[in-house]
Amino acid sequence: MHQARAVGDLHVLEHSLVAAKMSVLRDKTTATVQFRRALEQIAILLLAEVSKNWPTRAVEINTPLAAMRGAGLARPVVFAPILRAGLGLLEGMLRVMPDAEIGHIGLYRDEVTLRPVNYYCRLPAGLAESQVVLLDPMLATGRSATEAATLLKAQGATNIQFICVVACEVGIEQLQNAHPDIPIYCAAIDPELNEFGYIVPGLGDAGDRYFGTL
Ligand code: URA
Repeated sequence: MHQARAVGDLHVLEHSLVAAKMSVLRDKTTATVQFRRALEQIAILLLAEVSKNWPTRAVEINTPLAAMRGAGLARPVVFAPILRAGLGLLEGMLRVMPDAEIGHIGLYRDEVTLRPVNYYCRLPAGLAESQVVLLDPMLATGRSATEAATLLKAQGATNIQFICVVACEVGIEQLQNAHPDIPIYCAAIDPELNEFGYIVPGLGDAGDRYFGTL
């Protein structure tokens, strides 16, 4: 049985299998194919945690032996990956929930202001009634996650959860200050953010490693 350490709205998945897969992700000798597989598998384990208390509704079903009351999810689910690395988490999520809707959020970092700039945002309708899961493997400065959450809320989202793989204190603080209503789920919290905005020890550039663009 796994445990998630929850501090306020911060949930760190403490799980032996996740820890082992995190070491595969972090190892610089891990090839793209293994990196992809490990990221997708960690995404599935994080999804299990994030969805633990999603509201359900009763559904009447028949097993081969009897009628019974089962459960269905009460809200539609929207996955919102922040491009491009968030797509690496999306892949695993869709294996478990292939019927989920998807909203893409494209942000790049302005080299002068270092602020995220929105270059693409296409979100499904009905966000206000949906369970929205915002995806980005790395919570580094927290600025992209903050901007993405602001975009989601501007289009009506009210139930938002944020999933990342590695977070650092700076990013957690930034996101929690801007959006205290959004719980953060991660597999690890690392101690540092370097001057280039990379988490240390981290795992490097998640997008480059997932897409093989090193
Ligand atoms: N984005 C990454 O891909 N890696 C980091 O360490 C920080 C941001």
